[in-house]
Amino acid sequence: MRRPIIAGNWKMNKTPAEAAALVKELVPAVQNANCDVVVCVPAVCFSAVLEAAKGSNIRLGAQNMHFAKNGAFTGELSADMLSASGVTYVIIGHSERRQYFGETDKTVNLRTRAAVAAGITPIVCVGELKDERESGYTNAIVEYQTRMALTGLTQEEIKNVVIAYEPVWAIGTGLTATDEQANETIGVIRKAIEQSWGKEVADAVRIQYGGSMNPANVKGLMSQPEIDGGLIGGASLKAPDFTAVVMFDR
Ligand code: 13P
Repeated sequence: MRRPIIAGNWKMNKTPAEAAALVKELVPAVQNANCDVVVCVPAVCFSAVLEAAKGSNIRLGAQNMHFAKNGAFTGELSADMLSASGVTYVIIGHSERRQYFGETDKTVNLRTRAAVAAGITPIVCVGELKDERESGYTNAIVEYQTRMALTGLTQEEIKNVVIAYEPVWAIGTGLTATDEQANETIGVIRKAIEQSWGKEVADAVRIQYGGSMNPANVKGLMSQPEIDGGLIGGASLKAPDFTAVVMFDR
């Protein structure tokens, strides 16, 4: 049995004070969750979130990191810096990074390997564009992105990676993949992992769905056998909504 994992991706939202207020509301509300709970927040909010989440079941995540150990990369943060700041999860290769910041499958792989090497759990995002789905390329895209991202990791390392299947057309649009579409494509991702790294690895990897997941659709999505959790954008910014998603089984 894979333990579900629900992660909030706050994107470029919240000041440290707003972050602390949100996490303080979440702490008592999600303390009995039957899943891992993560908030991936702007780096300027790390210490405020860590302080507000102290002693709770809420874990701190980042939204991106550089793959180099250190050096002349103005504006970037290394895995060691994240780790030293209490970060235990990091989103890698979000479609917004791919679309707006030149992220490629190659750099997704470098970042994933650097995160694992630093002991941070990567949440690796894969997903097709609208026209790719309409042209019938969804499976080919997610298989390729998944295999490229995980290349060079050992089987044991891959077991601890989290994958987020985020169809790009469903992000921030209010459009969700149907429960069946999400389950089917996540099954395709799991099969690709099985073909490359074996069934034991594929059975262990947790694969989330992301894209307009909210209190109204979480139950249906989470009742699908392949879906192990969610990566939540808009609905992670308000305590009642994120709580309702995290406590999906109540
Ligand atoms: P929304 O939940 O706002 O669609 O965002 C999804 C997402 O991109 C999470 O990483």
